Amino acid sequence: MDNSRAISVYQYFQQEFSTEPIVVFSPGRINLIGEHTDYNDGFAFPAAVDKGIYMVIGRSNHTHSKAIAMDVSEDYEFFLNNIEPIQNGQWRNYIIGVVAEIQKAGLTIPNFNCAFSGDIPVGSGMSSSAALENSLVFALNELFKLGLSKNQMIYISQKAEHNYAGVKCGIMDQYASMFGQENSALLLDCRSVTSDAFEIDFKDYELMLINSNVKHALTDTAYNDRRAICEKISDFLDVSALRDISIEALEKSKKNITSSDYQKVSYVVEEIDRVHQFKEAIATNNLTKIGSLIYASHEGLSDKYQVSCAELDFLVDATRDNQHILGARMMGGGFGGCTINLIHKNGIESFSKSISSLYRDKFGKDCSMYHVKLSGGTRLIHPK
Ligand code: GLA
Repeated sequence: MDNSRAISVYQYFQQEFSTEPIVVFSPGRINLIGEHTDYNDGFAFPAAVDKGIYMVIGRSNHTHSKAIAMDVSEDYEFFLNNIEPIQNGQWRNYIIGVVAEIQKAGLTIPNFNCAFSGDIPVGSGMSSSAALENSLVFALNELFKLGLSKNQMIYISQKAEHNYAGVKCGIMDQYASMFGQENSALLLDCRSVTSDAFEIDFKDYELMLINSNVKHALTDTAYNDRRAICEKISDFLDVSALRDISIEALEKSKKNITSSDYQKVSYVVEEIDRVHQFKEAIATNNLTKIGSLIYASHEGLSDKYQVSCAELDFLVDATRDNQHILGARMMGGGFGGCTINLIHKNGIESFSKSISSLYRDKFGKDCSMYHVKLSGGTRLIHPK
């Protein structure tokens, strides 16, 4: 957590509104494995990180509410009794979406002011949006004593994303951001929406993120499209979600499904199976196996599910002959954002140098590296 950022948002709020606020930190997340499995009631292995959103919030005496996005120097005033999704509203839709979903849950909130800032790169696939939603619902729950449980809050965040940002996301991002635990990843069962925490210690290896610094235009449409295919096929196979079908059973139905749909659905079924294998590999600290599952996940996402892109494939391919790297894959929804790499400490410096120049030569832009710590979930903080 970045205490100086927390202090600067806090002080900014006090100058702007001269009331005593509360402060919430809500983290972004990484995902070790289990991509596009959450909306199929499957399993995923996310973890909250030490980067996130710092939300400062207080009551307002005005007849409207106000939100300030400090990092882009934008603000937005709105009336609580008149909330509609905003076209191209970006961060505003997450804010008003959370407010609207709280209201739809039958709760009334008074006017408020909030200001926020974050250190998760937007579009990096580390879920800055879930962090923002969770920070606001958590802060409003605290400020106005709404009595919402963490589980209720993550569904409010998710619905804000569905109904106001237009992305039919699963529950992984909001869950990991809300329930994260220090030094641990969460083996998340997306059907029961419960998790087991696994302490992660890769010894001489580290998780390194490489941001492609691209976000392709079709991301949201393609995401919703993949989800629709999964739901169509699970209806067709008469199961409540793809989690309920085995690789063998799917194989038997192959002739009744178009080859394009079959490819996508088989990716999901295999990826859910990989999460189980990953859990075993973590339990036995089998790093080679962990690495090969990570690579297999990328191949599935790229070749079968088709949510990768040239930049991500390039970043992954560049690791294949590197003896210090055990596995690499794209992370998150796809079409841009980060890759996650399991890399030996001794190899970080030289790989960072070489990939930076290779990437610049190929795409004419820079990639960025991040090292993250696995951290606790959404919480009140007291910046000093
Ligand atoms: C996005 C969504 C998540 C999940 C991932 C892919 O981050 O918000 O719900 O589906 O993509 O695993």
